[in-house]
Amino acid sequence: MSDKRLKILLIGATGTIGSAVKEHLSERHEVISAGSKSGDVHIDITDPASIKEAFEQLSPLDAVIMTLGKATFAAFNELESAPLSDSKHLLGIENKLMGQINVAQVARDYLTDGGSITLTTGILNEHPVPGSVSPSMVNGALDAFVKAAAMEMPRGIRINSVSPSVLRQSLGKYGPFFRGFKPVEAADVALAYSRSVESLVTGQVLKVW
Ligand SMILES: NC(=O)c1ccc[n+]([C@@H]2O[C@H](COP(=O)([O-])OP(=O)(O)OC[C@H]3O[C@@H](n4cnc5c(N)ncnc54)[C@H](OP(=O)(O)O)[C@@H]3O)[C@@H](O)[C@H]2O)c1
Repeated sequence: MSDKRLKILLIGATGTIGSAVKEHLSERHEVISAGSKSGDVHIDITDPASIKEAFEQLSPLDAVIMTLGKATFAAFNELESAPLSDSKHLLGIENKLMGQINVAQVARDYLTDGGSITLTTGILNEHPVPGSVSPSMVNGALDAFVKAAAMEMPRGIRINSVSPSVLRQSLGKYGPFFRGFKPVEAADVALAYSRSVESLVTGQVLKVW
């Protein structure tokens, strides 16, 4: 891989994972921070028009990284059959799943040749915990999306997901869900995003656990 300075759009840059990724990659690349309310540019990943507008404004871009995505934790017996609009699965499907898929599908058309797309999933599809049915489902769908989309990516564009275990820095928020899990360091999670952007891997789930 060359030493080229890349122009990278990092959506979710102010978050726990995003700020570690920003710190790591800013040492050698131009990193543009985005969030729905924070960052250099505002993008709401649940709004496809705002995604497209940002890519049009910021192009040419060599890489996009997403360090975000919400889904609802709820006991399985609280998940009633319902239309999607009334379902507790809505948040995960609309935000973490379709939000990242929509960014990836815009990036496919806008990134420079040989560019890269990196999504964020998480350990819960392989190691579920009580209450994780919805987040586990979404993570599994995203990891499958990455594997399939990589096969058909045009112009040498690569796509991967990073799947971390719970971060030590997030134990205050998620600790009770992750009893018995070994927490990982944000700086180590950031290395997986570096590998996705700066090596030649594609179609991979880069696990940090
Ligand atoms: N933290 C962990 O231990 C851990 C472990 C495994 C997996 N994960 C996964 O990693 C992802 C990020 O986790 P995190 O803990 O770093 O999150 P976080 O600290 O809550 O940060 C979320 C980031 O996303 C941005 N954001 C939120 N909604 C957005 C939207 N609709 N459009 C654009 N940007 C949006 C936020 O900025 P604004 O407020 O400006 O929008 C913020 O920068 C999540 O999917 C999580 O499930 C986290």
